[in-house]
Amino acid sequence: MRIALLASNPKLYSNRRIMEAARERGHDIEFVAIKNCYMDITASNPEIHYRGGEILEQYDAVIPRIRPSSTYYGTAVLRQFAAQGSYCLNGPVAIGRSRDKLRTLQILSGKGINIPKTGFADSPQDTKDLIKMVGGAPLIVKLLEGTQGIGVVLAETNKAAESVINAFKSMKAQILVQEFIKEAKGSDFRLFVIGDKVVGAMERRAAEGEFRANIHMGGTGHKAKITPEERRMAVAAAKAMELRVAGVDIIRSESGPMILEINSSPGLEGIEGATKIDLATLMIDHIEKNIKKKTKVSS
Ligand SMILES: Nc1ncnc2c1ncn2[C@@H]1O[C@H](COP(=O)(O)OP(=O)(O)O)[C@@H](O)[C@H]1O
Ligand SMILES: [Mg+2]
Repeated sequence: MRIALLASNPKLYSNRRIMEAARERGHDIEFVAIKNCYMDITASNPEIHYRGGEILEQYDAVIPRIRPSSTYYGTAVLRQFAAQGSYCLNGPVAIGRSRDKLRTLQILSGKGINIPKTGFADSPQDTKDLIKMVGGAPLIVKLLEGTQGIGVVLAETNKAAESVINAFKSMKAQILVQEFIKEAKGSDFRLFVIGDKVVGAMERRAAEGEFRANIHMGGTGHKAKITPEERRMAVAAAKAMELRVAGVDIIRSESGPMILEINSSPGLEGIEGATKIDLATLMIDHIEKNIKKKTKVSS
């Protein structure tokens, strides 16, 4: 197969692993840098040009690994690949949706999937009520487009919550307010979903004195045992988001597991290290199987 890895940095662990796994399987994989692509969207055959003037030949499959800061341009390029008929491991619409935490939670809640009690408001006039709505302090205030734990704040008192919310609002930042799952004690679970299966799971434990389990915040990854309920939940969540590959983050609360967020380009380094599972090859496997299915249907 001819495969494109659509991403920004070929040196990243995840990207190196995906290239390696595809080559080991005998595929022809090329690294396509998002920023080097430009497009002719008026041509009768949608074209993708590459810096220097080359017109990219059609790929059988595209593996998108679009970093949050490139979402707009990256999904535009991916749409062009999709319009050419390439199989996209994750589609542009699904990736776009997954980048908005509020939209993600609305989709999950619409499917009856458990999430922490969450509120969203536009005006500071509603702040006091918003705090009451999620059960009062301690509570979490979260930037809608934050990543790596940056933009997730714990407010210990109602007064502090009110100040933080109104400060974000005055800066025109979009935030959501969420009940704090204290009993998780700084631990959460990353479930790696491919297709309709959880293929690997790790627990992330926050560093001493920190409530955020993100590796970037000093958290550590450990091999984890997950329950059948958590497994089902993660698969249902990826399906609701229409993602074929997803990192689903689950937190364990007193009233059962809840989904915190879903990542459409989940990193491989931490979880391959913790689980010793070759997730990159499983991603290639999935493409092979599904492209075969696609050709069967059309032939
Ligand atoms: N409602 C919550 N209760 C307890 N801990 C939370 C809650 N929301 C987030 N966290 C902690 O903060 C971390 C980062 O939050 P998350 O929503 O995943 O944002 P980010 O996109 O920045 O990773 C989570 O991994 C979890 O450890
Ligand atoms: Mg997270």
